[in-house]
Amino acid sequence: MKQYNVGIIGATGMVGQRFATLLAEHPWFNVKVLAASPRSAGKRYEDAVGSKWAMTVDMPANLKDIIVMDATADVETIAGQVDFVFCAVDMKKDEIKALEERYAKAECPVVSNNSAHRFTEDVPMVVPEINPEHIEIIKSQRERLGTKRGFVAVKSNCSLQSYVPALHPLKEEYGIEKALVCTYQAISGAGKTFETMPEIVDNVIPFIGGEEEKSEQEPLKLWGHIEGGKIVSATEPSFTAQCFRVPVSDGHTAAVFVKFKKKPTKEAMIEAWKNFKGVPQELELPSAPKQFIHYFEEDNRPQAKLDRMIENGMAVCTGRLREDTQYDYKFVCLSHNTLRGAAGGAVLLAELLAAKGYFD
Ligand SMILES: NC(=O)c1ccc[n+]([C@@H]2O[C@H](COP(=O)([O-])OP(=O)(O)OC[C@H]3O[C@@H](n4cnc5c(N)ncnc54)[C@H](OP(=O)(O)O)[C@@H]3O)[C@@H](O)[C@H]2O)c1
Repeated sequence: MKQYNVGIIGATGMVGQRFATLLAEHPWFNVKVLAASPRSAGKRYEDAVGSKWAMTVDMPANLKDIIVMDATADVETIAGQVDFVFCAVDMKKDEIKALEERYAKAECPVVSNNSAHRFTEDVPMVVPEINPEHIEIIKSQRERLGTKRGFVAVKSNCSLQSYVPALHPLKEEYGIEKALVCTYQAISGAGKTFETMPEIVDNVIPFIGGEEEKSEQEPLKLWGHIEGGKIVSATEPSFTAQCFRVPVSDGHTAAVFVKFKKKPTKEAMIEAWKNFKGVPQELELPSAPKQFIHYFEEDNRPQAKLDRMIENGMAVCTGRLREDTQYDYKFVCLSHNTLRGAAGGAVLLAELLAAKGYFD
């Protein structure tokens, strides 16, 4: 497979650090550029990150001495040095949109963790097992931007990366009328640790800004279709969501209630989960889990602490499937929010784009 030089924009942040560790031994992608705010620019990566290093593994040795570039002032220089960039920055939404389009217009594709472009009509928002065909919209986006190579592609929000994969293999055959989800989200999703978020210890916080709207609306874009140079969102099923922040370091759990158009048996649902394979599994992409959905028979699983790292944090876990008094079924889902839900999901998307020739 061809090798690609990559940059990490926002490399000093929580997601940026995750990219740095995930890419350390990547078979296709070599990190050449690290960029962040003017506060970090000009410093060695190790010095710029300092005590903010939040990973459980050490900083990759080959990155420590790289001089951090300025993500906004050095766009053209960075674009000239890499084949594409990963982007995860903490800036205002309008600034992120503009920055990502600047990279794209400098003919540097952007694979983004940020939410800014998720509802831009010609920007694909992709969970590679669910809607890989949406990357074909890039042709229309390139026409709009006037680029040959440059484009922006994004991943979806971390909250839904457990329950949308679980519903997806059931949707075609049984039809989903409506779903209710309650999410129990880890503090790393807010870029926090127990040290930096002491108020979460012995507590549950019943609000995460913007999260319920994303949890209800983004699944419909994932299940949308391309029409007239746009991605047109699906109009059903109807979702309702409540999102809580809970005292867990990593791993978002979701309680799901679902009503089908045609009610499947419990056994058929478990079979559909076990047999589900997407394009990443078929193409054997390096970060793809071999088994995407793992079903647990035990009543007390999946658990965030025990099960979030299954298949390197890239698989989705389901369990506690049973009939419900108001909906057809209820069950529990889990996915690792900073791996599958953030940097890992973006790396898998980049692998899909590479395999399909979008960086050539
Ligand atoms: N944490 C998660 O699990 C998660 C999940 C999904 C999506 N996201 C999204 O990913 C993005 C990054 O999140 P995070 O948790 O990694 O944030 P973070 O830890 O606060 O890191 C933010 C990064 O942005 C850089 N930055 C800030 N202002 C900048 C500017 N004006 N110009 C250029 N770079 C600037 C920072 O550089 P300095 O160090 O130099 O300030 C740092 O590298 C956000 O959009 C977030 O919503 C996060």
